[in-house]
Amino acid sequence: MPSAVVCEGETFTIAPNRTVIVTNKSLGQGSFGIICEGLMDGGKGVAVKKFTDLKNGQSQAAREISGMEKLGDPNSADYSPYVVKMYGRTGGSDTPLRIVYELAGVDSLDNRIEKATFAEKIGWVRDILDGLRWVHGKGVAHGDISDQNILIAPVGGSSQAKIIDLGEWGEISDQEKRETDYIRIRKLLGIYMFDDLPDEVDDAAAYLKEKARIEGFNLTDEQATGMAEVFDSLINDPPPGASEVAKFDEEKLNAFKKAADVVLKAGDSLRTPVFM
Ligand SMILES: Nc1ncnc2c1ncn2[C@@H]1O[C@H](COP(=O)(O)OP(=O)(O)OP(=O)(O)O)[C@@H](O)[C@H]1O
Ligand SMILES: [Mg+2]
Repeated sequence: MPSAVVCEGETFTIAPNRTVIVTNKSLGQGSFGIICEGLMDGGKGVAVKKFTDLKNGQSQAAREISGMEKLGDPNSADYSPYVVKMYGRTGGSDTPLRIVYELAGVDSLDNRIEKATFAEKIGWVRDILDGLRWVHGKGVAHGDISDQNILIAPVGGSSQAKIIDLGEWGEISDQEKRETDYIRIRKLLGIYMFDDLPDEVDDAAAYLKEKARIEGFNLTDEQATGMAEVFDSLINDPPPGASEVAKFDEEKLNAFKKAADVVLKAGDSLRTPVFM
């Protein structure tokens, strides 16, 4: 039996001339390798994904890299704060190959969800939808949205969600991939994020409104404007009227959109200075 793969201290460089020091602290285990904490340029926290499965790991790494590259320059002002950044990778001839990511969070969503407050949940929902919409805008369908592929990071006194793991990505024109994102995100929102949601999705809008009222969110029309678009564009994305939308019962879909709208407005209100 091969010995367990562990994180061990090593140093390497990535273009254009950045030094990465890997620590022995493990952040996670993937099917093709391990993820270790590291430091870049002497101080920036990073996550190094090392593809230790030499048989399948290299092609998997190449796939993940090509997806991340489609998201564009990580230093661009346009880059979504809700999607992990890839800083670089070791050379193609190196085995095992390593991808250097920003340190996207300390916990995955599945570890946080049970103890999360309603306020945290709606903030994360907003982040996830915003991030996924941005990814889709880059022509990429994520393909593997799950509670393990969303990380939660502390930001100031609050927290935010970040999407990771493009290992299963596909072109946005790939209907099956797009549909997977859509179905998974509905599941996260409806069942997983709000597990005490009434069975009838038609009741969701009323339920969430009441929750938001109890938690004391003051929603202004300005806060509301734009947030509904996030969910709308996700559903209609692209092209509008695509067959996957028609597959769902229209009435339920509308009720769900209404409920999501309330969630998004409430999430947005958390980001106004009033709540800081
Ligand atoms: N950028 C990051 N910052 C912090 N932790 C990370 C980062 N990337 C990955 N991790 C941790 O490592 C775990 C596995 O990473 P990832 O999902 O990328 O691997 P994977 O090979 O795709 O796993 P699987 O095949 O099971 O989906 C994550 O769930 C997370 O806990
Ligand atoms: Mg994963």
